[in-house]
Amino acid sequence: MKVLGLLASYRRQGNSEVFLKEALMGAEDEGAEVEILRLTNYNIRPCTACGRCATGLKPCHLSDQFMWLLEKVYTYDAIILGSPVYYLTTPAILKLFSDRTVCEGYPTPLLGKPCAMILTYGNRGYNAYAFTVPNGLFLKWGMKVIDRALIHSTSPGDAFLDRVNQVRSKEIGRAVARATRTGEATYLGEPGVCPVCNDRIIRILKDNKTIQCPTCGIRGRLRFVGEELRAEFTEEAIRMGRFSPEQWYQHHMYHVELGKAWFMASKDQRKVIRKKYLTYLAPKVEEPAES
Ligand SMILES: Cc1cc2nc3c(=O)[nH]c(=O)nc-3n(C[C@H](O)[C@H](O)[C@H](O)COP(=O)(O)O)c2cc1C
Repeated sequence: MKVLGLLASYRRQGNSEVFLKEALMGAEDEGAEVEILRLTNYNIRPCTACGRCATGLKPCHLSDQFMWLLEKVYTYDAIILGSPVYYLTTPAILKLFSDRTVCEGYPTPLLGKPCAMILTYGNRGYNAYAFTVPNGLFLKWGMKVIDRALIHSTSPGDAFLDRVNQVRSKEIGRAVARATRTGEATYLGEPGVCPVCNDRIIRILKDNKTIQCPTCGIRGRLRFVGEELRAEFTEEAIRMGRFSPEQWYQHHMYHVELGKAWFMASKDQRKVIRKKYLTYLAPKVEEPAES
């Protein structure tokens, strides 16, 4: 049983690293082999949206370490993410990595495997989108989220002093390893508003009646029960979430495949029209003046 600690922090011995290491120690207690990959140690270039991978005929043209990293990530039985919050969400390196997974097929080798997230943030109330990128990545992979923590931890070394959250993180690691061993992937974290991703963000759609989880896409209604607001989603709505196996398959068959077919059918027409935009205000790459 191999558990990966995926680290998205640049800071050495930073708060995310400390809590992630506690989680991995917990996983080790339960008999797991553990390893850390720090995303910031690798050369990951941004997706250029060239579409080659979508044709299924050509591999990604970018020469960097991403494909190696992805193949390596696939070899683990479970993943625990350690990441700080940057500007209300997770750092760009995690989004960079997530964007590149556009080349994946469905299902991925991580389908059904357990995962967890440990995020640290420095300012109370400045973390609303903390889980959106990690949830998107793990749910797209088809992984089962076992637990998650959002820990207030600001300066370098704050995590060294926070025994409570060290213990909490270790528990998360233990739970992930147990779920990996038993195959029982029950979510143990704090319940959110969305029953799929457990986040607490909802959109109010234009009809001013329907609500939607922006991450999973499931639609429901808000209702007052006394003073309390309840978000309610039917079983059918949950089944229609974009990360359900059924919907992800549909996404590939109807959006991606039909999109490809339309692209190929209108290719010659595009070639003619594109000339107009090719030369008009072609962006020049300017070098900054020497100081
Ligand atoms: C570029 C940058 C942006 C940040 N933005 C936020 C933020 O929006 N909300 C927040 O609560 N903390 C923010 N922080 C604070 C970090 O989340 C906090 O210091 C965290 O503990 C860092 O984790 P690390 O030690 O693992 O890198 C930011 C830090 C940096 C460097």
